Amino acid sequence: TFGMGHYQSPVPLVTNAPLNHAIGSPGIVSSWTEWQPLKEVIVGRCELSCKPGNEPAFEAKLKSREHALFSAEPGLRSDEAIATGQDELAGLVDVLEKNGVTVRRPDVVDWSKPYSTPDFEVPCGNTSAMPRDVLLTVGNEIVESTMSWRARFFEYRAYRTLLNEYFERDPNFEWTAGPKPTMADHLYHYDFPHEARGGESDNVRSELAEKRIYIHTEAEPIFDAADVMRLGRDLFVCNSFTTNRKGYDWLRRRFNKRGLRVHFLDFPKDTAPMHIDVLFVPLSKDTVVLNPVRPPRPWVERMLRENGWKVIWGVSQGLPTPPLSQCSEWLSLNVLSIDDKKVLVEAQETRVMDLLSKHGFEPIPVPLRSIAEFGGAFHCCTADVRREGPLESYFP
Ligand code: NVA
Repeated sequence: TFGMGHYQSPVPLVTNAPLNHAIGSPGIVSSWTEWQPLKEVIVGRCELSCKPGNEPAFEAKLKSREHALFSAEPGLRSDEAIATGQDELAGLVDVLEKNGVTVRRPDVVDWSKPYSTPDFEVPCGNTSAMPRDVLLTVGNEIVESTMSWRARFFEYRAYRTLLNEYFERDPNFEWTAGPKPTMADHLYHYDFPHEARGGESDNVRSELAEKRIYIHTEAEPIFDAADVMRLGRDLFVCNSFTTNRKGYDWLRRRFNKRGLRVHFLDFPKDTAPMHIDVLFVPLSKDTVVLNPVRPPRPWVERMLRENGWKVIWGVSQGLPTPPLSQCSEWLSLNVLSIDDKKVLVEAQETRVMDLLSKHGFEPIPVPLRSIAEFGGAFHCCTADVRREGPLESYFP
């Protein structure tokens, strides 16, 4: 048993054995789109979540000087926030299970410990509440994102028990990871205009967004999985505060080899873009929701329509997010599809529900507001493991 522990390989441990994908229970990990019928999903958890320290990428996401003051003390989030978040996630788990979805949870990780690498040190980590940022499921593969905040360097650790389990049980599961960046100083624009420092940053940031200049440099590839939307044979990747062009290129090379097309998107009206899942939200094989306040470049809508897609312009109730949240009222669009009709929508977002009903969808209201403090809503706090259905092309 040298070095193997109790591990029983689902395929024979003989180097010249023929590949036999029928061995074991294949296909636990398999998800090609955002809308095929959901069978198994990871739902994050809030325990021991922290407010990160003021590292460059985090500071650039703070909305104002007041926001920065709120965030001044890094370390554990309040007991109350954690308890409320946990309750909301329990409600979400319940709804998913009632709809026949197997729900898995990450490990409890103590994010409050300081750590350092040869290149940086931070007072604490972040959270296990946002698996969508960390895990990119493309068919039978899960890619661990590179991440780009120092406080998120080790966030993959919350999912390692699950990924090891899938690796043991599913002989077809491909487990990969983006190249871990050093996150040394060369990865950040130290002169980037920060709203938290006051001053006239808005106009400057608009000009920078138009030129696709964000907080990160191109020193190393970086991507968060939540900057990717999966539409079968086509992946759409958002250039943002968390995904640079080198990160896009890494994804393009990786998935071109697997026969997929990988498209580059950006949303120039978003002056702090982070994650595609309030900007470009596909709900079925021919319907995508776009954000009217932060639209993509004009070619995107044209390309969608020319390929037979219906574009719906999203709405929001405009309700405030918790004071410690870096998200906007457009979390209204951060929905999760159970299939190509049923969509989980935040319970107070009645305008979204009306809009989706009008277009033939069946919104299911679920209370999930406080989780915004941890970084998102339905799409963010989940990660696909399995959706039923094959790889198809939806762009002729
Ligand atoms: N950057 C987003 C949140 C992403 C889940 C927002 O603008 O609200």
